[in-house]
Amino acid sequence: MPTVLLTGIGLLASQTAEYGDLLDAAVIIEDGRIAWVGTGGSAPDADEHVDLAGRCVLPGFVDSHAHLVFAGDRSAEFSARMTGEPYTAGGIQTTVAATRAAGDEALTARVAGLTAEMQASGITTYEIKSGYGLTVRDEARSLQIATQFTSEATFLGAHVVAPEYADDPAGYVDLVCGEMLAACAPHARWIDVFCDQGAFDGDAARAILVAGARAGLGGRVHANQLRPGPGVQVACEMGAASADHCTHLSTADVDALAAANTVATLLPGAEFSTRSAYPDARRLLDAGVPVALATDCNPGTSYTTSMAFCIALAVREMGMTPTEAVRSATVGGATALQRTDIGQITPGVRADLIALDAPSPVHLAYRPGVDLIAAVWKDGLRIR
Ligand code: NIG
Ligand code: FE
Repeated sequence: MPTVLLTGIGLLASQTAEYGDLLDAAVIIEDGRIAWVGTGGSAPDADEHVDLAGRCVLPGFVDSHAHLVFAGDRSAEFSARMTGEPYTAGGIQTTVAATRAAGDEALTARVAGLTAEMQASGITTYEIKSGYGLTVRDEARSLQIATQFTSEATFLGAHVVAPEYADDPAGYVDLVCGEMLAACAPHARWIDVFCDQGAFDGDAARAILVAGARAGLGGRVHANQLRPGPGVQVACEMGAASADHCTHLSTADVDALAAANTVATLLPGAEFSTRSAYPDARRLLDAGVPVALATDCNPGTSYTTSMAFCIALAVREMGMTPTEAVRSATVGGATALQRTDIGQITPGVRADLIALDAPSPVHLAYRPGVDLIAAVWKDGLRIR
């Protein structure tokens, strides 16, 4: 593979302590990795040169929370919400019915379309959850499809109780922890549980995370999205990589996150699309909690593949500075996935990069709704 020298980088937002925001920067890509970072004048030569003409460069976005394997359309539910209907977890069953009825080809085509959108918008790593099958067969095939697109596949059989088990939720938890987990664990890195009103309580969430850990899966929790509850505490207590949503937090929840190794993953697309109050990112950051931003792309609460949109919401509505929001969408997402090879620009990491038609990443929030992505590299290959 030829080495590539990127020059003319007006500002390199490296997300590292070593390089910080480097002005007049250059980067060398070799074998899919970053081989060298420095200022333009000191760059060694390479086989190919790309002049970025003063554009800023940042790491590819890391989307640590997305539900991409589904069928059907819930735009009518969105329209109803905009006229005052509340969001409930029950809407998930609409997508479950459509997903079960869809063939593998249709589901795969949907994931291909959404991941293409994500890559075009600068997301170079995406997590993909199951959770719209809720049978052994449909959860396993959802994950088999997800793994065609990502190494970060998450088993979310515990999204809601499957309709067949409406009168026996404990029986459904047994299925998730038993036969369903056995069929799904070979195709997943993570296990997730929706611990909230209308989904699973704290005890069920604990049991599911324990069973997942025994099967070798790391934990993630949909926590405290719809109301205050035990989700964040369970995530911290169980050593989950991430507690996601974190919309309704008590002081004890914030303290638990600050004391644990669990990342608070904020998903402002969901509050936008459910017309709900946003999580208080400022409070978490001030308490020293590691924070990630992710799209939560899903048909019910956040049908967006745009990390730039999430960054703009985080800055406008959640008290983040633009720098904090970009950090949360890059190295923050990498931390939520326990990855050190992505989310930063430093020698040795994957060459996942975005060049913006802008002098700094602040423009991602300053120019909302405008596509500023000039180029994207994934593993050193130009994909846009
Ligand atoms: O992250 N909260 C649970 N799951 C999704 C919503 C799923 C749906 O409504 O289809 C979320 O918001
Ligand atoms: Fe989600």
